[in-house]
Amino acid sequence: MTPEEAIQPVSDKQHLVVIIDDLPSNLLYFNEALNGFGYRTITAENGKKGLEKINAMLPDLILTDVNMPEMDGYGLCEAVKANPATRDIPIVLVTAQDDRDSLIRGLKIGADDFLIKPVKLSELEARARNLLLVKDYRDHMKSYTADLETQVSLRTQELKHAFQELKTVNLQLKESILDTVRRLSTAAEYRDRQTAAHIWRMSHFAQVIAEGMGMPEEFMDNMLYASPMHDVGKIGTPDHILMKEGKLTPEEKEIMAEHTTNGERILSGSDHPLLVMAREIAGSHHEWWDGNGYPRRLKGDDIPLDARIATVADVYDALTTERVYKKAWTPEEAFAHIQSESGTHFDPACVEALNKSRDMILEIQHSQRHLEHVA
Ligand SMILES: [Fe+2]
Ligand SMILES: [Fe+2]
Repeated sequence: MTPEEAIQPVSDKQHLVVIIDDLPSNLLYFNEALNGFGYRTITAENGKKGLEKINAMLPDLILTDVNMPEMDGYGLCEAVKANPATRDIPIVLVTAQDDRDSLIRGLKIGADDFLIKPVKLSELEARARNLLLVKDYRDHMKSYTADLETQVSLRTQELKHAFQELKTVNLQLKESILDTVRRLSTAAEYRDRQTAAHIWRMSHFAQVIAEGMGMPEEFMDNMLYASPMHDVGKIGTPDHILMKEGKLTPEEKEIMAEHTTNGERILSGSDHPLLVMAREIAGSHHEWWDGNGYPRRLKGDDIPLDARIATVADVYDALTTERVYKKAWTPEEAFAHIQSESGTHFDPACVEALNKSRDMILEIQHSQRHLEHVA
């Protein structure tokens, strides 16, 4: 229903009028007149009985005498206007008192119109028709508003439902991406001496460093899930270089260095923030803050922040764990070494965040040792 349709009066409705008067001759006069105009009518001989009928029948118009026993016209008017179910029913006070004070009193308590006795039929017909027209408009607007509210409520429910579905789909999508990440990281582990424990620890270190730098929660989460793929490019590194126990020749080093660009290629082609970050980390986790890293010798802020964070996390774990060619360093030794290379190998801001988060870093190492024991 449009607002235009809503203001069209209902023409085929037979309106109900309640007539209240203590004089039977008046009741008869108004009853016959209103029936003659085409309205249905109910009569009552005082305000109290009239009110009972009004509450029971909810008429379209009330025509009431003012001076009556039990409850007069003013009392009736106040009672009708005080009840939310009846307050919109127009009331016409029929009075012999055409003095100003009586009229003002009636208006103040909510009467909609007056008829002064003796009432002419033509005046009665005109007043009744006008008030019923206004009542029809009001009824239509009420039902239009109620209809609109129902529709708004329905649409709101539908939107809420759609939003919930979208959230579920997003969660499923994120879960499936994380699943891919885990599988890809596992595939890289098969090719390397790196263990699942290294991947787990360095990714948690990276998340903690990002937190220490005041990064938003989404960035921190992405660090946790993207950094495990930093060495995924080693899938393409030949075994004899990857597994070599001794020192690598310059040529072998060059081939080994290609795991960065290989990783980028594997992770390219997606604009999902998680995979974009993973690609940046894979490609730049061997760059140095001072420009002496590889593969592109990027310098300072040209190195993506996620990669600068992952570099500190990766090296810290490499230092503090045992490798075939070295013993595990103590956390103190590792913190001191990383501090000494702040500004050369590492971004000073990342080093500062690592130092600031020392307790959490040690906690991660401790909890992982426990997990390794269980395994
Ligand atoms: Fe690497
Ligand atoms: Fe690593």
